[in-house]
Amino acid sequence: MTQTTEQDRVLIFDTTLRDGEQSPGATMTLAEKLEIAEMLDAMGVDIIEAGFPIASEGDFEAVSKIAAQARNAVICGLARAKSADIERCWEAVKHAKRPRIHTFIGTSPLHRAIPNLDQDQMAEVIHDSVTLARNLCDNVQWSPMDATRTEEDYLKRVIEIAIKAGATTINIPDTVGYTAPRESADLIRMLIESVPGADEVVFATHCHNDLGMATANSLAAVEAGARQVECTINGLGERAGNTALEEVVMALKVRNDIMPYATGVDSRKIMQISRRVAAVSGFAVQYNKAIVGKNAFAHESGIHQDGMLKNAETFEIMRPEDVGLSETSLVMGKHSGRAALRAKLKDLGFELGDNQLKDVFVRFKELADRKKEVFDEDLVAMMADSASTQGSAIQVKFLRVICGTEAPQSADLTLTIEGEDKQVTMQGDGPIDAVFNAIKALVPHPDAKLALYQVHAVTEGTDAQATVSVRLEENGKVSSAQASDTDTVVASAKAYVSALNRLVLRREKSTHAQMDAAAG
Ligand code: KIV
Ligand code: ZN
Repeated sequence: MTQTTEQDRVLIFDTTLRDGEQSPGATMTLAEKLEIAEMLDAMGVDIIEAGFPIASEGDFEAVSKIAAQARNAVICGLARAKSADIERCWEAVKHAKRPRIHTFIGTSPLHRAIPNLDQDQMAEVIHDSVTLARNLCDNVQWSPMDATRTEEDYLKRVIEIAIKAGATTINIPDTVGYTAPRESADLIRMLIESVPGADEVVFATHCHNDLGMATANSLAAVEAGARQVECTINGLGERAGNTALEEVVMALKVRNDIMPYATGVDSRKIMQISRRVAAVSGFAVQYNKAIVGKNAFAHESGIHQDGMLKNAETFEIMRPEDVGLSETSLVMGKHSGRAALRAKLKDLGFELGDNQLKDVFVRFKELADRKKEVFDEDLVAMMADSASTQGSAIQVKFLRVICGTEAPQSADLTLTIEGEDKQVTMQGDGPIDAVFNAIKALVPHPDAKLALYQVHAVTEGTDAQATVSVRLEENGKVSSAQASDTDTVVASAKAYVSALNRLVLRREKSTHAQMDAAAG
């Protein structure tokens, strides 16, 4: 039986702060997570998966605080099929007006082999874990991880057990991004039609994008009866990412003629949150990304421009305003005041308190002094930069490089480390190499390797800002950051330092996790 909840409403379950943040290098601070959660709630997301409370003290605190601040959304935490996980998860989400526990276990043969459980033993674990969760919370989601590679009969059997034990949502994850649209639809339809009790629960789809089919697979699942789509902003997530929220929401809106399902999301808030997630995660959005890419609404070829001038619908299937893009990106210059800056930043998705605005205004004036015109993109880059260095342990205080045709180049650098200034002069093969050598001399981190160094111009012109992305890798842990400046070398130093700050945070997080594990 196909599931229809009030008027074919599809629930949007956002997991940017859990599956997205789990993506190597995308670690966010507590303040950033609270801010993103607030934006998700305000845009009408139905369920926010706020984190994995047992993973660390930081995750627990983030989920608890997000739960306490949420106004409308259901706040969900993730838990493995273990009593300690489920109880910890409840301790964090119980602060929400509408809490949910999401518990999961890998059910495919490959995943069953890890805890070395046979089918019957695993079925018992599922029964016990869902029962425990349901005794604590009346809203329980259960996921058979790697469902798309689980034997169908076993999948049906364990879903029935989870429903009988009290699960209210059954999520079907395509954990490794292996399925394809027709198969995704067939699986959901088969489960809804054949599992006893299926019509009592909501079926959800959770897809990964390894073969570039996550959105198509999610929409196919909806057409087959799934009424909850799990997704992330910008498709953030491990490997090739998760289903992108903006793609699902806009596909259902633009093609409502053939997919007549409604979401509660205000699509005009999409660009704001997309920019914010890119800034705080350090994962830039690719230029040609559907819906939120810089080029998604740009029409450069002569034929397109001509058509667009005559009738925008010639080449545009949705209006830029529908996703929250303002018509012009030219903003202001050095004479613009604080109120105008606050209003413009709000438009771009950055709501600032008075103190924050004070700091940002100083940075804006510095930028406006160096650039003739300040565009939306410049402000977004500036905000990404200030977000990543705020309150961090290591900051760039002074930098001068000597470079030119004669090698070697040298960098004179002062860093403020935990409040203390430290200076060094180092040489290198080019100015960037010299700067990075100077940072390494002041903050030794021999096990970390530079996994990515990328520069792109924010706008056009020789006074354009450069946004630099840096990714550091240390013992399998990845940390990324972005910084912008009209001086590429300064932007590079700031991005490297910012990634280093995040690496230090990650180290602390995993030390706490190890200590917790040792304590049992
Ligand atoms: O991809 C996956 O299987 C998951 C589960 C924890 C739901 O993220
Ligand atoms: Zn996932």
